[in-house]
Amino acid sequence: MKLGVNIDHVATLRQARGTTYPSLLEAVSEAEAGGADGITIHLREDRRHIQDRDLFEIREAVRVPLNLEMANAPDVLAQALRAHPDEVCLVPERRQELTTEGGLDAAGQYDRLAPTVAALNQAGIRVSLFIEPSPAQIDAARRLGAPMVELHTGLYSNLSGPARDAELARLAAAAEAAHAAGLQVNAGHGLNYDNLPAFLAAVPHLDTLNIGHSIVARAVFTGLRAAVRALKDLLPR
Ligand code: PXP
Repeated sequence: MKLGVNIDHVATLRQARGTTYPSLLEAVSEAEAGGADGITIHLREDRRHIQDRDLFEIREAVRVPLNLEMANAPDVLAQALRAHPDEVCLVPERRQELTTEGGLDAAGQYDRLAPTVAALNQAGIRVSLFIEPSPAQIDAARRLGAPMVELHTGLYSNLSGPARDAELARLAAAAEAAHAAGLQVNAGHGLNYDNLPAFLAAVPHLDTLNIGHSIVARAVFTGLRAAVRALKDLLPR
């Protein structure tokens, strides 16, 4: 199983102060050194974390496949076609949301998505649709000609008890259906060090997991001690 490391929140930290650090290129190479099988970035329409320039710089530097998450919006599509990431994951976007909140309505938005999926397919960029684990969405993804789906695990990661078990069953059934339809099955959103084992035990056919927030959050504490020491070393004794 492969891990795509989402580094958006390294950019969130940089944008919070308008500095040039932390460097996204360093984040890419550190993630690669840790074993990342892919790098994921989300070029949002509001550009709140990843900037257009990051996309092109990362495209140049990355050694593993690059997965670009994006809304179905003309200006972002134009940038995607210019930068040519290995993969694009189409996601829904709302301006006020803290993060991508729901899956893409591939069934309801079929006519709007079809030309975008076709343009990306034609450019040789593998397309994934970030969807709720429902049969209608999987069927729409297949009809749209996307080779991959990414199952939205956000609800799973927010639940506990029997409701969580029910959502796991829904995710497992969706993974079965997507696999049977010939689609590559990816998953992501809200996965962390605690909720991952139960997810892995229940859901079959997973190819790639895309995880960001929990990894960047943990990195703060695996690195804070050394960062404080390095600063102390600069101070007169
Ligand atoms: N997959 C998709 C499609 C996403 O939009 C996100 C969040 O940007 C992720 C995975 C990663 O989610 P998290 O940061 O919660 O691990």
